[in-house]
Amino acid sequence: MKTFRDFIFEQIGRMRIVMLGGPGSGKSTYSKYLIDHFDITHIYPGGMLRKEVEKNSEIGKQVKAIIDRGEFVPNQIVLDLIKAQIEKSPKGYILDGWPRYMQQVEDMEKNDIGYDYAVFLDVSREEVLRRLLARGRADDTEEIINNRIDLYKKETGPVVEYMRKRPGFITVNSEQGTPEETANEIIKRIEDESK
Ligand code: AP5
Repeated sequence: MKTFRDFIFEQIGRMRIVMLGGPGSGKSTYSKYLIDHFDITHIYPGGMLRKEVEKNSEIGKQVKAIIDRGEFVPNQIVLDLIKAQIEKSPKGYILDGWPRYMQQVEDMEKNDIGYDYAVFLDVSREEVLRRLLARGRADDTEEIINNRIDLYKKETGPVVEYMRKRPGFITVNSEQGTPEETANEIIKRIEDESK
């Protein structure tokens, strides 16, 4: 029997999703369920950048202090990492944490990096603080989390509003429910929209 994934692949040949949401909204958590379900690539600049820091590579040395402050790393570094991954993802991808500001939306359009669905995860600052302080990554101190949230509101807010007006925009409240329940809701919303 054909699965929904087979159907999508036959119809449009790929599935491309953008995950939008602030720090701790669950972008990476739900991406893991979606990449399994749709059999697509997880393109995650935050994770790639942290790996470069761990390796102490040239890129890692350039970005460590920036990530430690919760600021955005230089645009071209992120764009190069993303483009290399997209070239290796013929079945589609999830962009987890890109674009994050309007310059990156322009880069997206200039480089013909398309998407079929933009999933916006809506969650309160209180819940984000609770989740991230419990997670305890190096950039999960209260001060840095608040910096990341403020930057998100100022710079990523306009990206969300821009994408809201375009086809394929889906808002999901990720405040309540287990990760699995929220991931299943996202999958259902995408599949319903694709019918
Ligand atoms: P990145 O790693 O992407 O950090 P972030 O956007 O701040 O996101 P988080 O990883 O904190 O949150 P998330 O939304 O993925 O939530 P998660 O699933 O982990 O980026 C790090 C840094 O890299 C940036 O600060 C920047 O410096 C740089 N960078 C990245 N992209 C860039 C770009 N485009 N341009 C420039 N610089 C860039 O979930 C969080 C926690 O909540 C987890 O512990 C999870 O288990 C828990 N959780 C999730 N859902 C639930 C639930 N339903 N119930 C209970 N707990 C839950």
